[in-house]
Amino acid sequence: MSAVSGDSKRITTHKLQEMKKAGEKIAMLTAYDFSMARILDRAGIDVLLVGDSASNVMAGHETTLPITLDQMIYHASSVIRGVQKALVVVDLPFGTYQGNSKEALNSAIRIMKETGAHGVKMEGGDEVLDSVSRIVRAGIPVMGHLGLMPQSIYKYGTYTVRAKEEKEAEKLLSDAKLLQEAGCFSLVLEKIPASLATRVAGSLEIPVIGIGAGNGVDGQVLVTHDMLGLTYEFHPRFLRRYLNLFEEISHAVGAYVQDVKSRDFPNEKEQY
Ligand code: KIV
Repeated sequence: MSAVSGDSKRITTHKLQEMKKAGEKIAMLTAYDFSMARILDRAGIDVLLVGDSASNVMAGHETTLPITLDQMIYHASSVIRGVQKALVVVDLPFGTYQGNSKEALNSAIRIMKETGAHGVKMEGGDEVLDSVSRIVRAGIPVMGHLGLMPQSIYKYGTYTVRAKEEKEAEKLLSDAKLLQEAGCFSLVLEKIPASLATRVAGSLEIPVIGIGAGNGVDGQVLVTHDMLGLTYEFHPRFLRRYLNLFEEISHAVGAYVQDVKSRDFPNEKEQY
């Protein structure tokens, strides 16, 4: 975890651009609730993503598809209340922007108005370009997302590495440039070869944040539940675990159960 920064100024999309230019890496994590957002923000995280991975790690769904706009708004408004410094970006959930650009803009506006977040993230390249442009024109910062796009899991059929073949790699590079031209302020690249991610980051002026995309990009993002070891059954190669909270919490709860059963808790100092 990074140290607490002395700079209490808010992170902006402009600041992220400056960080890329200065070669300063961007640290991004997911957050879905007030308490965790407050810890991550105080620990010096630059960007908090209210990811639709909430569908997996908060709600226990197998995919990100079921989460609704109202549920994302609930998570995002909780996160915002815990944040003083980080830039907060919220995923537009599946089915709220693929239909047409007006629907996409309405969804993005709801997120901005009802949560106080600072931007939205959308999966896809040329397929969603109209929507990206329309949202950007309305003054809402958009983060793109290419490579493995979990909202399209039933199209791919698997969560394996994307864009290993030349044709898909070229489309990804072309989509990345289109998203930049459409006004995206940054781009997430998920689970693609490191060499391709480095090439994309080198070809774009906007910051590129990787997850399973190697070290040649401008920043990294992980799902907080994974890096803290709450999701013990998930072991992709790109994941570095900084804690094993599943075990630590199980241990603490086991001790509490034992203390209650043995009448050790509460003791005299813990009562009125
Ligand atoms: O929803 C999410 O957590 C994400 C990250 C994996 C980038 O999109």
